Amino acid sequence: MDAIVVRRGESSPEVAELPRPDPEPGEVLVRTLRVGIDGTDHEVLAGSHGGFPPGEDYLVLGHEAVGVVVDAGDTGFEAGEVVAPTVRRPPESGSNEFFARGEPDMAPPEACVERGIDGAHGFMAEYFTSPAESLVRVPESLAEWGFLVEPISITEKALEHAGASRSAFDWTPESALVLGNGSLGLLTLAMLDARGYDRLYCLGRRDRPDPTIDIVEELAATYVDSRQTPVPEIPEAHEPTDLVYEATGYAKHAFECVEALAPGGVGALLGVPDPWTFEVDGGRLHEELVLNNKALVGSVNSNVRHFEAAVETLGDLPAWFRDDLVTGVHDVDEYGSAFAAVDDETAIKTAIQFSRT
Ligand code: NAP
Ligand code: BGC
Ligand code: ZN
Repeated sequence: MDAIVVRRGESSPEVAELPRPDPEPGEVLVRTLRVGIDGTDHEVLAGSHGGFPPGEDYLVLGHEAVGVVVDAGDTGFEAGEVVAPTVRRPPESGSNEFFARGEPDMAPPEACVERGIDGAHGFMAEYFTSPAESLVRVPESLAEWGFLVEPISITEKALEHAGASRSAFDWTPESALVLGNGSLGLLTLAMLDARGYDRLYCLGRRDRPDPTIDIVEELAATYVDSRQTPVPEIPEAHEPTDLVYEATGYAKHAFECVEALAPGGVGALLGVPDPWTFEVDGGRLHEELVLNNKALVGSVNSNVRHFEAAVETLGDLPAWFRDDLVTGVHDVDEYGSAFAAVDDETAIKTAIQFSRT
């Protein structure tokens, strides 16, 4: 079968011919429909995040997948069901408490592998196998958009944790600032809009005309250009917000966002930055957090519960938003275009199509 891989020492994807996997007991064989591409895939290609499976000289890419069950084996699934796989699996050393609790998303990096990212092959292949407990059903009507379940689940988790950090008092967030107009930032903006936030802002660093700015404005959010209004100046230029969602991977934003928060607000940090040493006014930051009861929460990955919530959320997203966000679905032989979209400012979210329902 065709698979899209990156080889050790390379930074571009290529197609490899691999044997079709055989499901073990408790596993399901899935025929892949589509696999999305996000910023993390480019970090993996660049070698700045993730790693190869032990002893292998290539990694099958892809962690945002949707497919159709072809062999349900001894599991509770049935052939023909549409499913999305979660990303984390136990490490080579064996399972652990995080997996036993159904919370692999809370495992530290050494206690898990991530399919398509770190230490385990991903889903960019015509078929993949997965333990049944790591698959979530997707309604057939959403099959073509099912590769968005994984990124939406990332925000389901982050918003849950941000809300939980504010659950000790009466916190009714009405305003939010999303840092980053990539696919994660835009998906989050649409989710916050659907959740009834009154005032939404989204930070980018692009000139108009730009399709991401069009989406921001279509969602009735305000576009903020970080080149004109750096994050610490946003409260004065606009207003502070109850929630800041960082999806730039720009390390200074993890600290600057504290300035942009309203009293009692929370900043959710999602970016995976490269190492970067810079100065911060630690005293001011410390004081802001304490005297204004602000919180910062880091969040990575997501579990089955977040995937299930994401399936519901996906169904509620406006059709125009999905259509505008997904700027390209490419067949396997056009995989180069799907990955090259990162350098094309007219492209936003792309996916590779392996088969149709
Ligand atoms: P992406 O497509 O690379 O989006 C990042 C966006 O941030 C880009 O549109 C970029 O603008 C913008 N940006 C970067 N620095 C900026 C700055 N200084 N000012 C204004 N805008 C800036 O990546 P993504 O897929 O949306 O993911 C976002 C981040 O979250 C990445 O770091 C990714 O690794 C991480 N992530 C984390 C999780 C998790 O579980 N924690 C899950 C998914 C993704 P340009 O396009 O104009 O350069
Ligand atoms: C993936 C997550 C993963 C994270 C860190 C994200 O792009 O969506 O599932 O945990 O990267 O590797
Ligand atoms: Zn991702």
